[in-house]
Amino acid sequence: MKTKLGVIFGGKSVEHEISIITGNQAINAVDQEKYEIVPIYISKEGLMYTGKELLDLNSFKDMKTLFEKIVQITLVNDGKQINLVRFPSKGFGKNVINTIDVAMPTMHGTNGEDGAIQGYLEILGIPYVGCDILSSSIGMDKIMMRRVLKEAKIPSLDYYAFYSLDYIDNQEAIISEIEEKINYPVIVKAGNLGSSVGIKKAKDRANLKEAIEYAIQFSDRVMVERAIEHLREINCSVIGDAIEATASECEEPFGTDEILSYNDKYMSGGCKKTGKIGGAKVVNNSKNQGMASLDRKIPADITPEKKKEIQNLAVKTFKLLGCSGVSRIDFMIDKDTDELYVNEINTIPGALSFYLWQATNLEFNKEIDKLVELAFKRQRQRESRTYSYSENILAMNGKQH
Ligand SMILES: Nc1ncnc2c1ncn2[C@@H]1O[C@H](COP(=O)(O)OP(=O)(O)O)[C@@H](O)[C@H]1O
Ligand SMILES: [Mg+2]
Repeated sequence: MKTKLGVIFGGKSVEHEISIITGNQAINAVDQEKYEIVPIYISKEGLMYTGKELLDLNSFKDMKTLFEKIVQITLVNDGKQINLVRFPSKGFGKNVINTIDVAMPTMHGTNGEDGAIQGYLEILGIPYVGCDILSSSIGMDKIMMRRVLKEAKIPSLDYYAFYSLDYIDNQEAIISEIEEKINYPVIVKAGNLGSSVGIKKAKDRANLKEAIEYAIQFSDRVMVERAIEHLREINCSVIGDAIEATASECEEPFGTDEILSYNDKYMSGGCKKTGKIGGAKVVNNSKNQGMASLDRKIPADITPEKKKEIQNLAVKTFKLLGCSGVSRIDFMIDKDTDELYVNEINTIPGALSFYLWQATNLEFNKEIDKLVELAFKRQRQRESRTYSYSENILAMNGKQH
C-alpha cells in the first residue's frame, strides 16, 4: 500500500506564493511508486482546500477558476485515521474526501515555519515532516534565535532588540542606545519575517528612523545589527534530527541589490540563463522556480577548511535547536576580516534545498523519502513516551480517604 502523503502549502504568509512553488516542486519529485500525494492548499485567508487541480502549478494563474474546482476541507482525526472532511459538509453524499498517513508542510514564514501548523498537526496526532513547534518558532524568530546562538557561543553578530510599541513611546532613548552600541551602517530587521521583508540598511540617524518605522509595520519586535559592508553569503543545508544530522554541499547565492531581496530570491528568472562564475556552475535562472531560481554557485568557492567549519556550525546550530527534517543555515562572511557568522536558519527552506542535496548526491525523491522516514521515527518516539497515567484520579476520589 502506498503511503498517503499530505503536502500542505500556501498559508497566511507573505511567502504564500513561494510556498506554492516549493509544494509543487516536492509534489513533482515524490516517488509515485511509494506515495500517493494528497495536496492540501491553505488560502491567504487561512482556509484549507484539496483537489487534483492543486497538483498543477498552472492552476494558480487563475485563482477564481481554481477556487470553483477545489473543495474546502477540514482535517479530522476520527480515532483511527486522519480524514479530509468536506466543509461545510453535505447532508447526503460523501463527506470524507480522502485520508492522509503523514503530512509534509512546505510553507514558508508566518503560520507555516513558525510552529503554528506544526502545533495544529500535533493536536491532530499525525506524523509530520520537519521541525517541531519549539525549533520552528525559535528558528523563525530572528531575536530569539540570536539569543540562543549567543548562549551556545556560536558565532553571530551582536544585536540590539526592542518592542515596536516601546519605540513609539521612547524613540529618542532607543535611537541613542542603538547608536551607543552599534556603528553605522546598520541593518534593521523585523523580528520574525523572512524573504528579506521588513529589512533595510541605514547609514545615519535619519535613515535609521526610516528603517525602524518600516520594520515596525511588519513586526511587534525589531532587531538592529552592524551591516557587513563587504559581505559574502554562504548557505548550507542539514538533514536529520537532534541526534544524527548531516550537512550538505555549500552554496554562495548572489543578489543584485545590496540586501539579497525578495526579488533576487524569487523573481530573478524570466529568462533562462546558465553561466559560470569563477569556474563553478551557476544554477540556471528560470521563472517559477522559487528559491531554486536564484543565481548561485554550487559548490561555493571556499577553502576546504572553511567548508568544514561551515558544515560543522550548520549541524551544531541544527542540533542546538532540536531540529528535524531539512533546514538551511545561512552564513555571512565579513570579507574585510574573514570572520564567519551564522545569520539565520530556515526550518522549511525554499525548494526544500533540493539543489544542495542534489549537489551532495541525494536526489530530491530520496530526500523526501528521508524526510518521511524521520517524521515516522519521531512519531514512534513520541508514542513510546508517557503522556497520561492509566489510573483515573477522579474515579479514585473518596476511595483514598
Ligand atoms: N548584518 C548584515 N550585513 C549585511 N547584509 C545583511 C546583514 N543581515 C542581512 N543582510 C542581507 O539581508 C538579507 C536578508 O537578511 P536575513 O537576515 O537573511 O533575513 P531573511 O529572513 O529575510 O532572509 C541577507 O540575505 C543579506 O543579503
Ligand atoms: Mg535570509
